[in-house]
Amino acid sequence: MKVALIPGDGIGKEVMAEGKKVIDAVSEKLNFEISWNEYNFGAERYLKEGKTLTEDDLKELSKNNAIYFSAIGDTRVKPGILEKGILLAMRFYFDEYINLRPIKFFEGVQEILKNKKNIDFYAVRENTEDFYIGIGSNEAKKKHKDEFEILRTIYNVKFNLDIESDKDEIAYQIGILSRKGCERIIRYAFELAKRKNFDLVTGVDKANVLNFYAVWRKIFDEISKDYINDKIKSEYLYVDAAAMFFVLKPERFKVLAIPNMFGDILTDLGAGICGSLGTAASGNINPKGVSMFEPIHGSAPDIAGKGIANPVGQILAGAMMLDELKKSDAANLMIKAVEYVLKEGKVRTPDLGGSAKTADVGNEVIKKIKEM
Ligand code: IPM
Ligand code: MN
Repeated sequence: MKVALIPGDGIGKEVMAEGKKVIDAVSEKLNFEISWNEYNFGAERYLKEGKTLTEDDLKELSKNNAIYFSAIGDTRVKPGILEKGILLAMRFYFDEYINLRPIKFFEGVQEILKNKKNIDFYAVRENTEDFYIGIGSNEAKKKHKDEFEILRTIYNVKFNLDIESDKDEIAYQIGILSRKGCERIIRYAFELAKRKNFDLVTGVDKANVLNFYAVWRKIFDEISKDYINDKIKSEYLYVDAAAMFFVLKPERFKVLAIPNMFGDILTDLGAGICGSLGTAASGNINPKGVSMFEPIHGSAPDIAGKGIANPVGQILAGAMMLDELKKSDAANLMIKAVEYVLKEGKVRTPDLGGSAKTADVGNEVIKKIKEM
């Protein structure tokens, strides 16, 4: 199997070293081979060459079976350039329409919500549509024309906007939801519930205010009917109520289907209620294409270079990747080892109240993998 490795910026490089080390250990133990292709995409290259991801880079990446990504971001680069030019570029180019984010509390982590250790569910975030498609402007003057073309695997859309207002500062953003886009992500959420033997899927939207979410809700309704025989119940929550339940009653959730932007917000909240941004992982999945796996955290320039970043999110993203590459035994072994190390609590990075280094955690996880 060929895997692209993109360590990126800041602590990305440090946690990636551990993720790769752990995957190498588990593949050696279970006798399969990963060949790594490392790429230097990120702030460093952007500052030197002015490039984020070119068409050639994307073609090059597509030669791999999966992409193992860490984090990008650098204080010297204007916000948005690397995020859109690298991260969103990969999600869109490879049509990774599923953003799968387990929200799981690990024993051994200091709990944030009193008496709430029983948090274990999946956020299924739509990953290609909504307000993320890039149609918007912050400089619409009194009379203003804008043209946008959105070229996607599942459709192309053109917007010709003719804006007139009697004030001179108007900003706007347009979101798109397509039937196909909603269907495929909502179906994935129900299929996930079925596979995991869960009895509830929660659809999240804001259909009471934002018109286009009515389509999301209608399709959620249609698809939910296909799963009645599987004894999977469905419910909707407006995103504001969902946020409240994340804090007051997170144990009620099993699988949530969430449009892109609300999914972005709720999954950070999800990481927060589990006590640490450092342990959360995420998969950007196209079941028939090249998927990309990354920790939820960013490049954390404030602690970069100190060797104290928590590598658990990166390691668990690696486990998600192996699971998607049909190496579930390896994935489970990695997860078990990580859970053991967190619970035991001897080797922990400072964010979890310990004094271990990034590499100590990787080594300890490998030690457990070898013992198991
Ligand atoms: C995430 C991040 C990205 C997003 C940013 C960096 C573009 O916050 O993966 O959740 O908004 O999707
Ligand atoms: Mn986010």
